[in-house]
Amino acid sequence: MTSTIPETMNALQAVKLGSAEEALQYNQVKTPEVKQPTDILIQVKAVGVNPVEAKARQGNIPIPFFSTPRILGGDFAGNIVAKGSKVTGFEIGDAVYGSLSLPIGPNGTYAEYVLVSQGSGALIKKPSNLSYEEAAGAGVALVTAYQAITVLGNLPKEGPKKILVIGASGGVGTYAIQYAKTIPETEVIGICSAKNVELVRSLGADRVVDYTSKGAMDILVKNETETFDLIVDCIGGEDYYNQLVGLLKKKGVYSTAVGPIIHNGSEKVGLFTAAKLGTTVALRKLFGYRSYQVVIFLPWKKLESDLAPLLANGNIKTVLRDDQIFDLKDGVLAHKKIESHRSVGKVVIRV
Ligand SMILES: NC(=O)c1ccc[n+]([C@@H]2O[C@H](COP(=O)([O-])OP(=O)(O)OC[C@H]3O[C@@H](n4cnc5c(N)ncnc54)[C@H](OP(=O)(O)O)[C@@H]3O)[C@@H](O)[C@H]2O)c1
Repeated sequence: MTSTIPETMNALQAVKLGSAEEALQYNQVKTPEVKQPTDILIQVKAVGVNPVEAKARQGNIPIPFFSTPRILGGDFAGNIVAKGSKVTGFEIGDAVYGSLSLPIGPNGTYAEYVLVSQGSGALIKKPSNLSYEEAAGAGVALVTAYQAITVLGNLPKEGPKKILVIGASGGVGTYAIQYAKTIPETEVIGICSAKNVELVRSLGADRVVDYTSKGAMDILVKNETETFDLIVDCIGGEDYYNQLVGLLKKKGVYSTAVGPIIHNGSEKVGLFTAAKLGTTVALRKLFGYRSYQVVIFLPWKKLESDLAPLLANGNIKTVLRDDQIFDLKDGVLAHKKIESHRSVGKVVIRV
């Protein structure tokens, strides 16, 4: 390790399970070191925050071996400051972004330095036209959109396609709208609340439906039955599924990042609820009106191969608002923002 890397670093640690105020502490911890030949040490400049991190911190989702203290966070952008002998294609000084394969630690990205292992998760050279904050946003959320649309979506190979994105103003939704519009001959309709309609339209949505307007939702259901190839659900729950599944064509797919509980994991998911959820998903898969798919695995290599070029050429942008960028020491505020369910685009921590 070179002398410019300090022995200790600042990190936002989850020291216990609980609310953001109770659980998150800004602490000095030992700086990780390159030990394995494929290790890369990154000085973190920005971190993309995802709802799963707040859900895990609260103790709402059953995660085996989840102990505290731990450093959460998976998405990052920063500079390489040290590397192992078998690292290829990356040099010290390179600006990079990417994601660890899991955003829940124990040695996550809410820190001044993070160790990544080449080959695990995603690591990409950051083009100079992307800020660290923009690059850090595009980890979990963008790959989730890709998984829901391209891997699970079963879109027709050719000809016109029609996609509905529920929750179009959030982290996943803003990427889903833009990614869907990169697919040729695709009409994209977004569902969001009135205050975000203009934003979603500006991302390329052909039409936007305000979910707070019963009239607008009723018109969608009445006029567009069996016309969609794909519904991408970033909100979850029974209401959207029951109301909208009939919009799908016979070979259409209901592809959800969340599942049968709205904002799943925002409340504690006990064993009984988990079993009930599993049963509902299984029943929908076996006997549902249309194909039902849940995003579980994220294809990290596609961030490197398919999505990074779209970010680099500006076809996909990270939606960032100044009031959603927080300093590392204010990570509590970042978690409170993400668990409000009202954030727009990405919540980012600046390090
Ligand atoms: N399965 C996976 O691997 C995976 C991966 C990533 C994310 N997820 C999950 O996917 C969900 C979405 O993630 P995210 O990062 O997009 O969340 P997010 O950024 O926190 O979503 C916030 C957005 O949701 C909108 N929203 C809230 N309630 C809504 C409703 N009833 N109808 C329509 N929009 C609503 C809000 O807009 P308004 O203020 O206008 O309501 C806000 O813009 C989370 O539950 C997350 O945990 C799963």
